[in-house]
Amino acid sequence: MTRLALAVVLAASSAFAGAPAPKRVVTLWPDVPAQPVTTPELLEVGERVYKGACLGCHGEKGDGLGREGKFLAIPPRDFTTGQFIVRTTPLGTLPWDTDLFGSIRRGFRPGVGMPAFTFLSDREVWGVIAYLKTFSPRFKTEKPGAKVDLPPVPADLASMAPQGQVVFMSGGACFVCHGMQGKGDGPAAPGLVYVSGKHQGKKVSPANLHRSDWFKGGRRPEDVFRAISTGLDGTPMPGFAASLSVEQRWSLTAFIMSLNPPAPPAGTPGAVP
Ligand code: HEC
Ligand code: HEC
Repeated sequence: MTRLALAVVLAASSAFAGAPAPKRVVTLWPDVPAQPVTTPELLEVGERVYKGACLGCHGEKGDGLGREGKFLAIPPRDFTTGQFIVRTTPLGTLPWDTDLFGSIRRGFRPGVGMPAFTFLSDREVWGVIAYLKTFSPRFKTEKPGAKVDLPPVPADLASMAPQGQVVFMSGGACFVCHGMQGKGDGPAAPGLVYVSGKHQGKKVSPANLHRSDWFKGGRRPEDVFRAISTGLDGTPMPGFAASLSVEQRWSLTAFIMSLNPPAPPAGTPGAVP
């Protein structure tokens, strides 16, 4: 199989006679399976998963103030705001369910607290997405944002890195937060805080751009381009889809890739794609 993500089909054991147990299908990021229609039964599955696997951190009300969540250095997302950092949509708009599917399957780097839920079936992940959306009234009145244009990765990406360094220091002013060398220690870094929800005013650190394996939305060029384009909602990281051209955003992507060793080959155990 050439795809990094494998769709693993586990036939649940049918120790008991009767109807065969339903198949548990587990699709791993970056693949995303077809989404089922939200039915009361799917919401029930989601509520069960949430209460078993998410509530301790994200809280009974979904506000990120769960019993364990309160003690994490990086606070669990407050779902009541409808704001998510990993989206394919413009800053300020609701994500697509497929964006949330990616975050739940991929998880964020160890040390952040948000695990990769690779043991849940696809149906359980879709269910918990339907359930966590009930915490924000925005999902009843707003639609997900229009997908930000994500053009294919340029073939000559690596050659764009020097141009990207210039944008980093001038047009994008990325260094103000991320630091001259991109280590996350820019002059504005110490004062950065979450801008909304229950965590408003709590400190948030700019990413160390030399650790693309820690990026929350993935480390592939297309993931980095997307993060720069859409911004990270609820944090001070702006979206640059409107203020920087596609070429400038690819050059920044190339610059960030140049700060990092190449990603390990597909299938390396424990490696982040
Ligand atoms: C051990 C604590 C912990 C558990 C358990 C946990 N999360 Fe999280 N989750 C976090 C933290 C911390 C963040 C915020 C990370 C950040 O902002 O970098 C987060 C963020 C998220 C996000 C936001 C992604 C984005 O783009 O903003 C989603 C969605 C999410 N969690 C869903 C879930 C679901 C669904 C479950 C249960 C199946 C779950 N989490 C269980 C700690 C946890
Ligand atoms: C006002 C401060 C600020 C500016 C300006 C800024 N960033 Fe960020 N950036 C942040 C913060 C804060 C985070 C981490 C947020 C988090 O982890 O929740 C971040 C995260 C990132 C990430 C990691 C994305 C991921 O998936 O985890 C990348 C890549 C990035 N920034 C690139 C850039 C580039 C390129 C520019 C300039 C075009 C830029 N940033 C400008 C504050 C800033």
